[in-house]
Amino acid sequence: MSARTSLYRTRAFPLARLRGAGESDFAVPLFGAFDARTSTPAQNTLDRAILSIKGLSLEYETAERVVRATHRVNLDVYPADRFVLLGPSGCGKSTLLKAVAGFLTPTEGEMLLDGKRIQGPGPDRIVVFQEFDQLPPWKTVRQNVVFPLLASRSATRAEANERAAHFLDKVGLTHFADAYPHQLSGGMKQRVAIARALAMQPRVLLMDEPFAALDALTRRKMQEELLALWDDVRFTLLFVTHSIDEALIVGNRIAILSPHPGRVRAEINSHHWSHDSGGEEFRAATRRIEAILFDRPPENSVPRGGAGGLAKKCVACVE
Ligand SMILES: Nc1ncnc2c1ncn2[C@@H]1O[C@H](COP(=O)(O)OP(=O)(O)O)[C@@H](O)[C@H]1O
Ligand SMILES: [Mg+2]
Repeated sequence: MSARTSLYRTRAFPLARLRGAGESDFAVPLFGAFDARTSTPAQNTLDRAILSIKGLSLEYETAERVVRATHRVNLDVYPADRFVLLGPSGCGKSTLLKAVAGFLTPTEGEMLLDGKRIQGPGPDRIVVFQEFDQLPPWKTVRQNVVFPLLASRSATRAEANERAAHFLDKVGLTHFADAYPHQLSGGMKQRVAIARALAMQPRVLLMDEPFAALDALTRRKMQEELLALWDDVRFTLLFVTHSIDEALIVGNRIAILSPHPGRVRAEINSHHWSHDSGGEEFRAATRRIEAILFDRPPENSVPRGGAGGLAKKCVACVE
């Protein structure tokens, strides 16, 4: 059993312990009653949540109307979680991440980091975006990693250089420390962004579809590298994706969000999937998540009200 596998098991505990689900892939019965508002694991675990999101609604005000992006979202992220927000495009994933990063003020609800209300951006939350142009092009790879450490006064120059060397080594870019971003591939740029973020030693690393613009093979490689890095460093991750496969592979816990406005439909444990899983079991898990995402019963379920009709509403949905 690899280190990651064994930790996956221990990290699956909040919901599993709450539900007594043991090694089950889905910590909550997918088609049993589950209410995310009342079934948070916080009161039931020894671990304290690093990040608590409580009843969070987020809105944008445009000239013509108010757009509600998320509706009363509840989440708890625990130390060393790889917590995934999974949902269709436009369901408010990026908005939620921006709010946690401190760039948006909630319409209702609150976000707590280590028990303190989030009121703005801070070096304890760093975002890695999808775009390759998130690195200032006039700075070398090393300077890109060092700069935020100095700008935020998180480290002296000597410490910053040391941390940059350490994390560039972790992402395999030691030999590119003096290169400029335009000399790197998309995957390498994302590695720099990850090294830069981890060098800040944030309480939570926020990633918004960081591999979505990469080709399929590079994407898969980056997912593996991220997991290897997590094995090594054990950071806490809040990761956004619209890909079910990616969510299962990257995450140990997944919050499945409804289409616009985003609400938490279900929360599941996904700690034991990897690229090696494959096969029918993995595809079955994917189909079960699809059923929740798209609010329809899974292929092999008996519809409520008899075989003639479709279930009106997925009972795993919480609102
Ligand atoms: N700056 C903005 N102004 C107005 N509406 C926005 C803005 N950004 C996002 N939205 C809207 O908020 C909703 C959620 O967007 P977003 O968080 O980007 O979704 P996702 O990341 O899940 O694709 C969408 O309906 C989107 O059109
Ligand atoms: Mg987005």
